[in-house]
Amino acid sequence: MKPTADLIITNANELLTISGHSEKPKTGDQMDELGIIKNGWLAVSKDKIIACGNLKQVLAQISTTSETIQIDATGKVVMPGFIDCHTHLVFGGSREAEFEQRIKGANYLDILRSGGGILNTVRSTRTASKAELIKTSSGHLDTMLEFGTTTVEAKSGYGLTIDSELKQLQVIKELNDLHPIDIIPTFLVHTTPPEFSSSQEYVDFVINSMLPRMQSMAEYCDIFCEQDVFDIEQSRQVLTAAKNLGFKLKIHADQLNDTGGALLAASLYATSASHLDHISNVGIEKMADSGAIAVLIPGASFFLNSDTYPPALDMISKGVAVALATDFNPGSCPTESMQIILTLACLHMNMSPAQAICAATINAAHALDRADTIGSLEVGKQADIIILGVPNFKFIPYHFGVNNVETVIKKGVIVSPY
Ligand code: NIG
Ligand code: FE
Repeated sequence: MKPTADLIITNANELLTISGHSEKPKTGDQMDELGIIKNGWLAVSKDKIIACGNLKQVLAQISTTSETIQIDATGKVVMPGFIDCHTHLVFGGSREAEFEQRIKGANYLDILRSGGGILNTVRSTRTASKAELIKTSSGHLDTMLEFGTTTVEAKSGYGLTIDSELKQLQVIKELNDLHPIDIIPTFLVHTTPPEFSSSQEYVDFVINSMLPRMQSMAEYCDIFCEQDVFDIEQSRQVLTAAKNLGFKLKIHADQLNDTGGALLAASLYATSASHLDHISNVGIEKMADSGAIAVLIPGASFFLNSDTYPPALDMISKGVAVALATDFNPGSCPTESMQIILTLACLHMNMSPAQAICAATINAAHALDRADTIGSLEVGKQADIIILGVPNFKFIPYHFGVNNVETVIKKGVIVSPY
């Protein structure tokens, strides 16, 4: 008996499977391959993909009934949902006043040093109630979903006390239950709050008192390794302690200066290192050897008006697995749209549209250690699928600043439009 499809997508102009890399991320030339099926069909039962191929192949494998939902994708692109593997989803307040200060010449790190920036958002997040944070974050998730993102990572890091960090992680947990988007929680050691007299004092507090309390609430631990924030030795201390407690590791590395963050990520076998605008050549080599995923964030370089973008093509040619993310946050990249990130990756890092799409799907799944279930359209994988009103994949970064996504399917259910 052939399995019955609950939902079937017919005749996509291009069906991007991005298949064959559930075990290892795409590197080098593999990033230019999207596994395209022309006139592609795809069938779903419950929350899983049960067939994928051309009309004949799919109809040979499945049966349909009068209940089967049919979506005609003629002239359209079908692909896996975007995976946004680095966000600061939960925060209070907003920072449009600092945006204006930066336009007039103020510098991002100087604003932080003078008690604004991340610390500005810390003040608003500490005073926000859990209900308020759920309401605003859920609105951001709605926008993400509408723009085709079906899984996100979300960091704490705007509380910086045990209770307010737990409040952020609790919000993430509740939103994961409430919202169609799957959310993977990260405890972020973001900056030193004003109640501590030195960054080392805060690092010691994090290691001795915070990490053990966050353990059950977060899968990953991350730290902002940056000049005048946390140095390489402090980052090593925090990440090593976190690893010993069973956290998987992420790091904000070499964003504004080369502080050796990529080397640290490689030496600790971190799952991923983010930003890397100023990564050194040896950092690139070590990242390639260790298999850590480079999560590139051209949206932050763009929004901070930086002249420097991560050397994406150099990394790809040297064997680093590259992923893309929004870094959605109120200071350095307030956008929910992975589509605009693809455009920036192409224009400012010279990635090809195909490389950018691989980076935003299967390699982003690897950056979250979820590539066994998401990131590609293959039989047995979760049915997280988007349908775009564009004739071919190159149109996605090309037709920019608008939403090209028409339909979003999460775990087999049409969730946008609803
Ligand atoms: O990834 N770099 C540090 N953290 C965020 C910015 C957070 C903020 O400015 O609020 C980032 O860019
Ligand atoms: Fe970030």
